[in-house]
Amino acid sequence: MRITMIGSGYVGLVSGVCFADFGHEVICVDKDTSKIEALKRGEIPIFEPGLEQLVADNVRAGRLSFTTDVETSVAASDVVFIAVGTPSRRGDGHADLSYVYAAAREIAEHVKDFTVIVTKSTVPVGTGDEVERIVRETNPQADVAVVSNPEFLREGAAIEDFKRPDRIVIGLNDERARGVMTEVYRPLYLNQAPLLFTSRRTSELIKYAANAFLAMKITFINEMADLCEKVGANVQEVSRGIGLDGRIGSKFLHAGPGYGGSCFPKDTLALAKTAQDYDSPVRLIETTVSINDNRKRAMGRKVVTAMGGDIRGKSVAVLGLTFKPNTDDMRDSPAISIIQTLQDAGATVTGYDPEGMENARQVIDNIAYAEDAYSAARGADALVIVTEWNQFRALDFVRLKSIMKAPVLVDLRNIYRHDEVAKHGFAYTSVGRPSSDDTL
Ligand code: UDX
Repeated sequence: MRITMIGSGYVGLVSGVCFADFGHEVICVDKDTSKIEALKRGEIPIFEPGLEQLVADNVRAGRLSFTTDVETSVAASDVVFIAVGTPSRRGDGHADLSYVYAAAREIAEHVKDFTVIVTKSTVPVGTGDEVERIVRETNPQADVAVVSNPEFLREGAAIEDFKRPDRIVIGLNDERARGVMTEVYRPLYLNQAPLLFTSRRTSELIKYAANAFLAMKITFINEMADLCEKVGANVQEVSRGIGLDGRIGSKFLHAGPGYGGSCFPKDTLALAKTAQDYDSPVRLIETTVSINDNRKRAMGRKVVTAMGGDIRGKSVAVLGLTFKPNTDDMRDSPAISIIQTLQDAGATVTGYDPEGMENARQVIDNIAYAEDAYSAARGADALVIVTEWNQFRALDFVRLKSIMKAPVLVDLRNIYRHDEVAKHGFAYTSVGRPSSDDTL
């Protein structure tokens, strides 16, 4: 299959290189000339484990190339994926579809022969209908089928998720696309990954429903964590106790500082807005959005309390700035609100992140950036773990105690136990675990 990927961002690039790795001939397109030039030199604009090597291998094998030229690539392709961004629209929280529609128009101008146009970007229900309308309006002769094929990959595990998906969802209203899409996913299909064929609208909704459900699951356990703190229970044991019930499942039950990232915050909001427009509000999701928004600042206040309540003039070291480990992505990271709350309360902050500091500098003002965890902690009145990077899982507490001003550790990801930290003389605060009952 000859495939064009319009948009070489996170989803486009990972999907493009994985399709090439399946043996397809893939051209990744982007309007950003400097990004394409960098990709041609083998420089990957995002941090994603394994991506650089996979790109290099597939470029060398002649299956993967990069261009800014939509016309030539679209004209030569059997399948054209739209994988451009759908950010939250400023002001109203709806998904901004202008990039998707612009891509549809451009594809329509250049298609030749029967072509399957696939929307991989996360788009509200009905977007496929509009893409089809735009294509027919722009080029009435175009012979196309418009398909929805949402992507469920997680940052930091993107290649693994793409190659070993739980399922592949394909929404189509034109049966001619079924064989083409089966061929596109042939290696996964042969590997027994279920291909779920459904209507285009259903497929579009599945993506939002999946993300909203996961966001709700995290928010549920976060609220349980708060309750655990009040009643003297242990949230990790609650997670285990409920997660072993097959109907609930153990994943996405880690309590923490609230979800962030490029998907959950934007997609939950967009789903809530769509549902309101259709006069069918999704109140659980509306509530999830507001609980999670409040939680991020609440975690800042938790740090203030752990430091004794008045932090004016004190200094706080924050470890982990990205919204989760193994990514350099700062979008909607809880660290942003937590640091703001600490600064509002009068503290100075030093941050450290293994991969995210360059992006952090764009969104977090007035903090110092350290070279590693220990230089961040030097002279600090408290150390706060916001993101659970592996390198923070085995900190040297003897060393930390000797360089910090006060031995206070706030572990917002529950990666330590009270006893192992307390024995070094640290005051330890975690999420939803009473200090006397740290059995996990
Ligand atoms: C998510 C979905 O998992 C993926 O299917 C979709 O395609 C895009 O959005 P991603 O945003 O990369 O992926 O990260 P994910 O691992 O899902 O984590 C999202 C956020 O939830 C992070 O801030 C993470 O720290 C938080 N989280 C996750 C928890 O707080 N607790 C959990 O148990 C799981």
